[in-house]
Amino acid sequence: MKKINDLESYWMPFTANRDFKKDPRIVCSADGMYYKSQEGNDILDATAGLWCVNAGHNRRKINEAITEQLSVLDYAPCFQFGHPKAFELANRISEIFPEGMNHVFFTNSGSEAVDTTLKIALAYHRARGKGTKTRLIGRERGYHGVGFGGISVGGMPRNRQYFGTLLSGVDHLPHTFDHERNAFSRGEPEFGEEFADKLEDIIALHDASTIAAVIVEPMAGSTGVLPPPKGYLKKLRSICTKHDILLIFDEVITGFGRLGTATASDYFGVVPDIISCAKGITNGVIPMGGAVVKDEIYETMLDEADNPIELFHGYTYSGHPIAAAAGLASLEIYKEENLFQRASELSPYMEEVAHSLKGENHIIDIRNIGLVASVELMPREGAIGSRGYELMKRMWDKGVMVRFTQDTMAVTPPLIAERKHIDEMFDKTREALKEIN
Ligand SMILES: Cc1ncc(COP(=O)(O)O)c(C=O)c1O
Repeated sequence: MKKINDLESYWMPFTANRDFKKDPRIVCSADGMYYKSQEGNDILDATAGLWCVNAGHNRRKINEAITEQLSVLDYAPCFQFGHPKAFELANRISEIFPEGMNHVFFTNSGSEAVDTTLKIALAYHRARGKGTKTRLIGRERGYHGVGFGGISVGGMPRNRQYFGTLLSGVDHLPHTFDHERNAFSRGEPEFGEEFADKLEDIIALHDASTIAAVIVEPMAGSTGVLPPPKGYLKKLRSICTKHDILLIFDEVITGFGRLGTATASDYFGVVPDIISCAKGITNGVIPMGGAVVKDEIYETMLDEADNPIELFHGYTYSGHPIAAAAGLASLEIYKEENLFQRASELSPYMEEVAHSLKGENHIIDIRNIGLVASVELMPREGAIGSRGYELMKRMWDKGVMVRFTQDTMAVTPPLIAERKHIDEMFDKTREALKEIN
């Protein structure tokens, strides 16, 4: 007989299930910057959920928009039919995304958004008579979700090694992390622009006529927060343009304010051809993502496709009315409360506080950009990730939710955070660091 509250049946994602179920960390409610744990403790949200709750928890405007939408139109298909809010949301996103990127294809997650960008890149080249351009170039230490497209172009070994041969025709740029030259950098690191030159080598190997697209996170997040070296993204952009290769920015975490601007493209002054986004699009409340494309891509597909349906791609829930309503309300909050600007203004403070940890036990690097900071610990001999895991659990006991990738902690609070919250996050990190070996 199963117990009603047995934790066994739920196979949790990216989780050490056995360990978790022995000593679970369960949240039951949330408001503003805090969760409430099952035991009734306040837990400060230092990760904006999973980099998605940008406006903080339990926002009445979003809740009301969802409730109202439910009673008006709960579901409608977006294949050959439409409903107003999906169009409206696409328009609002176009307004804040880079100039000339006015077309949005909706998905339900970041992983789907990424796979959609890759498929659009392939279909676009084919539509314009360049069907030999099929190779995709990702980057080591890239995270692009968990679909087969995303893990193929991604560069996190554990996310790839268990899943067979993946997509063929994929190559990888080297990652841009250079601890020796850039440790304890603030913002974009000084050194490493030349990592972009490797793209020329890859092109020389395969020939540009076989390459469809390069995909990178403008700031690699899940692999431990790696801001791009100064000049790197501009160089990638110019090499891609020179060789007629599409540049895709995966902005699933950077879209909607994380760096203090609507997009990382804006922050770095580099405009790609396609952007994947998700997470903050609905403040994390309802699953949604999107691929945002340059006008030229959309227009070419419409003009040149060999079928009245220009793109044989879509999801049952693409542009779902409830998600669209949540998205519109989220974008209104971002605008009304000037949250991107607010994140930008808080960022120097977080930089100072984060870097003040330098010299504490185990720390080998601290990095930051926008409202993102990471603290990297020296791994234990033969047990990579165990020190980070222990620190994460200590932080939970102290009432702070942080996210670790192996031994690197990422702090990515909601954009409504105040200085006192930043202090609490790093004071407790300092305390916890003293307690672990
Ligand atoms: C850059 C990037 N791409 C894609 C994804 C996948 O998004 P999802 O988990 O919504 O599928 C993530 C998730 O963290 C991400 O950080």
